[in-house]
Amino acid sequence: MTNSIVKTIFLALTFVSSMIHCQEKLSDKYNLMPWPQEIQSNANRVKIAKDFTISINKKEGRVYNYATNIIRRITNRTGVFVDQGFPLLNDKNATVRVSFDEVAELKLGVDESYELDVNNNFVEISAKTDIGALRALETLVQLIDHNENSFFVNGVVIKDNPRYGWRGLMIDVSRHFHPVEVLKRNLDAMASMKMNVFHWHLSDDQGFRFKSDTYPKLHELGSDGLYYTKPQIRDIVSYANKRGIRVVPEIDVPGHATAILAAYPELGSKDGYDYKIERFSGVFHPTLNPINPKVYTFLDNLFAEIVPLFPDVYFHIGGDENEGKHWDENHEIQKFKNKKGFKNNHDLQTYFNIKLQKILAKYDRKLMGWDEIMTDGMPKSAIIHSWRGVNEGFKDGTLIEAVKKGYQAVLSNDYYIDRVQSVDHHYLFDPAGDVPLTKEEESRVLGGEVTMWSELVTPLTVDSRIWPRTAAIAERFWSSKEVKDLKSMRKRLAVVSFQLEELGITHLSYRNQLLRNIAKSKNTESLELLTAIFEPLKIYTRNEGGTEYKTFSPFTLFADACVVDAEDAYNFNLLVDSYSDNPTTEKSEELKGYFSKWKEGHAKFKKLKNNPILNELGNHYENLSKVSSIYLEILKGGSLSKSKGNEIKETIEKLKKPMVDTELVIVSGMEKLLKKLKKEGSIK
Ligand code: ACM
Repeated sequence: MTNSIVKTIFLALTFVSSMIHCQEKLSDKYNLMPWPQEIQSNANRVKIAKDFTISINKKEGRVYNYATNIIRRITNRTGVFVDQGFPLLNDKNATVRVSFDEVAELKLGVDESYELDVNNNFVEISAKTDIGALRALETLVQLIDHNENSFFVNGVVIKDNPRYGWRGLMIDVSRHFHPVEVLKRNLDAMASMKMNVFHWHLSDDQGFRFKSDTYPKLHELGSDGLYYTKPQIRDIVSYANKRGIRVVPEIDVPGHATAILAAYPELGSKDGYDYKIERFSGVFHPTLNPINPKVYTFLDNLFAEIVPLFPDVYFHIGGDENEGKHWDENHEIQKFKNKKGFKNNHDLQTYFNIKLQKILAKYDRKLMGWDEIMTDGMPKSAIIHSWRGVNEGFKDGTLIEAVKKGYQAVLSNDYYIDRVQSVDHHYLFDPAGDVPLTKEEESRVLGGEVTMWSELVTPLTVDSRIWPRTAAIAERFWSSKEVKDLKSMRKRLAVVSFQLEELGITHLSYRNQLLRNIAKSKNTESLELLTAIFEPLKIYTRNEGGTEYKTFSPFTLFADACVVDAEDAYNFNLLVDSYSDNPTTEKSEELKGYFSKWKEGHAKFKKLKNNPILNELGNHYENLSKVSSIYLEILKGGSLSKSKGNEIKETIEKLKKPMVDTELVIVSGMEKLLKKLKKEGSIK
């Protein structure tokens, strides 16, 4: 190799490495989420002062109202008393100058791209559509930074557009009802994360939530009085539209239909069955009767009533988890299957689905359904909503199977946030997975949807299960596949998490309310400490068999006050890793800080007046305090006996056991630390 080639290669490598370095630096500096497709930093800075203004190039469309709200959010964030609380029109001297070409019809694939340029003393935003401009305004709010003297917009040039057109959040309002204001604050949060589909799971075994004029018994007998009226639905759809969010309704049939059958038992598959709104969680047998013509008349009339409320072209019919037990028990249904030559219940469900597809087509709606609708004979126009992972017959999962078979598909598997798994898990899961796909197959992956099933959440706690993890998943849906650094994501997410509260999300503030209720006191510090190291039991183990909790069980317990990715636990475990690799005095001091905190926490806890909810935490807290004292002794230089070492081990074993539906997530760190201390010879 000649010198010049070597030099060129060296320069190229240096350039690539400085790009990567630069990228890392930028995400250190800016707390943007989702991370934009292209971003460059510059030295400009636009101060937010009383003369701050936003100007837009036209009043039509969504931007004017949105920008008014953005001004309100900026003044709240910064405490700056601006003179101008509403956007100006075509003002060449405005601080933020927004222009867009057209007002968009909200539909899948709408142009959401934008450019944002921070100049010397103004910010320029341009977009093809008003929706692109909304996305840019959210980026603007995230760019606000401060020093001791002022708030300002940091200098960047951004060119951005989403990777996927379908970036959704499903909220199940059946298992627990969520009033309009809960949905609205979540729509605000979704818009702040550039999400664009609200999937409204309106019916299930535990409740039918639409007030029907045609079939009033649905809400009278199937909802416990908790449902949405048509004006409320119109209000939500309009609220979402103003934020560039489509709304996809779901009426789950033929299974998950107990609430429908509690109202109209004659539509069920089992004669004489006592259909009652379900109070537990799980998969149940009540199923619409696919051979009863009245079922199709019912669904036709019901869809005719619902469709006009939802302008979006997609209509979700559920279709999941029908085990067909009541079909098997029904003689007439068996005869029908034989006559038609149906081999199994899948064939019968396909027959049912295709009838629904035809009904929906009459109303210009496209049928969408969960995995199970993908049976032989299902037309390719159906959208497959993949919730199951790897399953029999197709190791790469149903989403990949669907797109390979020619269906368009949306992924929810592994965005099941009700499973209370770490944000890292969800974040690293790509909608298209890692299986090689052709360009065409890849284009059929429409995007992803976070699913908030609500068996174990109420309006008080639901935000704490959705956020902040959904923000990181929103990044997965919007940003480039290569944006996947966990450290960067967590650092930015911590900031975004605070900012979500500006929008009325209660995922942080709800905890104090719960803890005051548990403590029957305002002195909740000792409990708050525990919530930073305990997490709720994961992957449905909290509600083993679906029968530990009913709809009306309390959801104000210690487990409800705990969240996944408990902050102190995460940091403590990292600290132990770091100490194990390279023990320093500083790290030892930090570890002592944690153990002292837990020990002192227990002392405070003991001062609270006992009550039955509180008592359940006492044993674990005492054990935590006990091990903390021993670790403190060792870290302070004490050389401890083997018996003390054994005592730690035994106590940790006790602490490993779940406590009131939570688990202590520092035990792995404590065990690792014990090993390290033993190696260091602290324990004889
Ligand atoms: C589902 O989780 N049954 C869609």
